Amino acid sequence: MKVNLLETFAEVFGDNEGAREYFSPGRVNLIGEHTDYNGGHVFPCALTLGTYAVARKRTDDMICFYSANIKNAGVVEVSRKELENQKKYGWANYPLGIVWAFAERGKLIDSGFEMAIWGNIPNGSGLSSSASLEVLTGVVLCDLFGYDDLSMTDLALIGQYSENNFNGCNCGIMDQYAVANGKKDMAMFLDTSDLSMEYASVKLADAKIVITNSKVKHSLVDSAYNDRRRECSTALEELQKVVKINELGDLDEETFEANKDAISSEVCRKRAKHAVYENQRTIKAVEALKNNDIETFGKLMNASHVSLRDDYEVSCPEVDTLVDLAWAQPGVIGSRITGGGFGGCTVSIVKNDAVDSFIENVGKGYKEKCDIEAEFYVVEIGDGARVLSK
Ligand code: GLA
Repeated sequence: MKVNLLETFAEVFGDNEGAREYFSPGRVNLIGEHTDYNGGHVFPCALTLGTYAVARKRTDDMICFYSANIKNAGVVEVSRKELENQKKYGWANYPLGIVWAFAERGKLIDSGFEMAIWGNIPNGSGLSSSASLEVLTGVVLCDLFGYDDLSMTDLALIGQYSENNFNGCNCGIMDQYAVANGKKDMAMFLDTSDLSMEYASVKLADAKIVITNSKVKHSLVDSAYNDRRRECSTALEELQKVVKINELGDLDEETFEANKDAISSEVCRKRAKHAVYENQRTIKAVEALKNNDIETFGKLMNASHVSLRDDYEVSCPEVDTLVDLAWAQPGVIGSRITGGGFGGCTVSIVKNDAVDSFIENVGKGYKEKCDIEAEFYVVEIGDGARVLSK
């Protein structure tokens, strides 16, 4: 289903005169999970699935949000002079947080505006529907209020700042960065310690990227996520007493092994081990991809899953079932959980001629074992957030 958002906008806000159109993608991370707040590398790409907006300025002070996905929430109205997170605003706390974060950066929004959105990223699936909405709002504000001095990376940082400080999830920079800077057929090899980035082609000659949605979302995701972050910083503080590093991403496997006993709790040691090894896996995976060695890339994806399951403990039985089923299929180069975890999606690289049987067999096996109909997306890699109107 694709909604005619200009029409929806006119129905909700009277007419669509002067309204402009925008798009912001979701993202999938191929490898490099839970490394972005440890100064490590990530390797995400933007999807062609995403969030659309139609927006225009108002002459009064009201900021009005409408989601065609959550029609029963109606129009959420907030005065631009009262920018605070309120439970009753629901989903609209995400775009509102961006207005607030713009103001924090001295970019004041000097009138109200109205914005209708619609998206086709499944919510809570680990494909960054919230980062998509955050960066989308940034693009809308820049366009409507003339802040063209902000780069796409600035918009990503504003999105992360808002999510951390307005919405209370202490996320890293990967999602907003990927959504902002995506490029067709390219993944982004991003070093989160200094935000240097290199695009690498993921246009595979004989394989496709397949996302499988487990359709489970475990509660307390944000608090479990914040716990992982804390465990990593505890490990870092203890390691810093014995080895000179700024972040866990500074360590290679050997130096970690030689110093890991400085970490007093076993849990924190496991978290740090994941962060260190996953970062090194990401570097190796990108190297392999550049050498057209997709088999090695796939093996590193599989190892990433094992580490996220056993050491970082962010998987869950349903997602493990999907990954086990995927690993057992012919033509599967690699498969792992993707995104923050505790449910959500897996990402698999599957040979072209095995995609149909993959979908059939994994779908059937998952239904049998977990009694849930998985959803599959054979995805295309697209461009980052942008203004669609001329
Ligand atoms: C979530 C966060 C990201 C990143 C991933 C895990 O998606 O928003 O910053 O930490 O989890 O890799």
